[in-house]
Amino acid sequence: MTDETPQAETPQVTITVRNNGPYRVEGPIRLVDADGNEYPLTPGKGISLCRCGASTNKPFCDGTHSKLGFQAAERAVREAEGGNS
Ligand code: FES
Repeated sequence: MTDETPQAETPQVTITVRNNGPYRVEGPIRLVDADGNEYPLTPGKGISLCRCGASTNKPFCDGTHSKLGFQAAERAVREAEGGNS
C-alpha cells in the first residue's frame, strides 16, 4: 500500500522582465491596490506592469517607457552572481 497523495497542481505565474519595458505577468493572479481593492482583469490574459514610473495608467504600462527612452535590461544570471540584494 502506498501513501501517495496526489499533489494539487500549483498554478504557474510567470513574470517576465522585458528589456527596456514593463514587467509582463502571466498566470492566475489577483492584482490589488494599497487598500486591497481588486483590479478587474481578464482571466487568461496577461498584464504588463509599469516599472519606468511614467505610465498615466499605473500600475499598468501604457507604452510611455518607449517615448522616454527607459533603459533596463537586467539578466537573472548577473543578479545571481552578485547576490540578490
Ligand atoms: S514601463 Fe511602460 S509605461 Fe512604464
